[in-house]
Amino acid sequence: MAENKPKTATLSFGNKVLELPMMSPVSGPDVIDIRKLYAEGDVFTYDPGFTSTASCSSDITFIDGDKGELLYRGYPIDQLAEKSHYLEVCYLLLYGELPTAVQLDAFETRITRHTMVHEQMHYFFRGFRRDSHPMATMVGVVGAMSAFYHDSTDVNDPWQREVAAIRMIAKVPTIAAMAYKYSIGQPFVYPKNSLDYASNFIHMCFSVPAEDYEVNPILSRAMDRIFTLHADHEQNASTSTVRLAGSSGANPFACIAAGIACLWGPAHGGANQACLEMLREIGTVDRIPEFIKRAKDKDDPFRLMGFGHRVYKNFDPRAKVMKESADEVLGLLGIEDNETLKVAKELERIALEDEYFVSKKLYPNVDFYSGIILDAMGFPTSMFTPVFALSRTVGWIAQWKEMIGDPTQKIGRPRQLYIGASERNYIDVENR
Ligand code: SDX
Repeated sequence: MAENKPKTATLSFGNKVLELPMMSPVSGPDVIDIRKLYAEGDVFTYDPGFTSTASCSSDITFIDGDKGELLYRGYPIDQLAEKSHYLEVCYLLLYGELPTAVQLDAFETRITRHTMVHEQMHYFFRGFRRDSHPMATMVGVVGAMSAFYHDSTDVNDPWQREVAAIRMIAKVPTIAAMAYKYSIGQPFVYPKNSLDYASNFIHMCFSVPAEDYEVNPILSRAMDRIFTLHADHEQNASTSTVRLAGSSGANPFACIAAGIACLWGPAHGGANQACLEMLREIGTVDRIPEFIKRAKDKDDPFRLMGFGHRVYKNFDPRAKVMKESADEVLGLLGIEDNETLKVAKELERIALEDEYFVSKKLYPNVDFYSGIILDAMGFPTSMFTPVFALSRTVGWIAQWKEMIGDPTQKIGRPRQLYIGASERNYIDVENR
């Protein structure tokens, strides 16, 4: 029987012919291993946006962009959104398997008992202007966690990595809520251990010391589902940022702060804020054609926010769940004729019938409907990306732990295609 000859890719250029090894995944496309290409072929590959590059191997999350599928450790996102809850999904992403009841209870207790931040961290906020964007505050304060939690910054100690992970999953919602309270001039609200994770976040954001506050179970269920839908997403820009920062051995808090900074961009996690602002600017259904026209105009930098994706060339499965949740939450809250939701649905319908969007396979992504739900829950648009950031913290940490735990990992250091000046001699200023 012919032995299973390992797959190779033949690359020939100039007088060179190279046999490059290939690797096959559990799911998705094969990869060509080019790690020895420069040493053997004296050439680089060129892929500025990483459109055809696998930056690592991972067993955490899988996306099939053509089918519109998203799996966390093999479990489809729609099943997890319906049947699981965020802290159980955190356990799954961190440890690879769904927890037993005993494991889940122990994990939830650990997270619950780490939700307070060091009291001195309250003073950090006073250095920010009240009208600072909460993402600016989050980047600063999460990064500053390394100034307080020195006993969990040694990336080579598995126990310290574990403690840092628990601390960040537990404390980032508290920091996000503090950023919100600071921006509206209200006092910080301490976490309450009697509340579940999502209810605790809502309570820290919306309760005030002057009166009792009862968390609406409709809101906490919707909040928890939003957390789950945003928890991880393979090697997106912010996760790649966390991995690159982590590859230098930087402490985990600094790496997550780097991820928050990258997520802020409107092409990435900032799109949920930009999308709701766009829907509000459109205002009414009759103005949609004007904006569709702008989105298609190459000379106009305007893009439909919440539309398109580097990987999904079909529906983003998270957008489907989010759209169902928007209908459910607004209905249960009695917000029937929400003009913004009407505009969103009509915009989606028109775009998905338009040749430009169909030919470019542009569909609504996770950010298209999330803002409508967050707005209905009472969050200002400036808090949309902080919600995304706190949800994604577990994904960033799971990916960071996977990288740090890989004995073969090296510092990430890409090369370039140099197109600058050739060597030339200095010219004294009097001769220029
Ligand atoms: C997230 O990577 C992830 O997984 C991210 C994320 C996660 O969970 O981590 O899923 C979260 O970031 C979702 C994406 C949120 N961003 C937006 O909604 C912003 C609007 N979308 C785009 O800017 C864009 O679609 C990107 C950034 C999301 C993807 O950009 P790509 O893959 O680089 O695609 P591209 O810019 O090359 O666009 C391909 C074509 C272009 O036209 P041509 O030059 O080929 O003629 O499609 C056009 C683009 O002009 N296009 C759009 C468009 N998105 C792409 N045209 C109008 N409106 C849009 N939204």
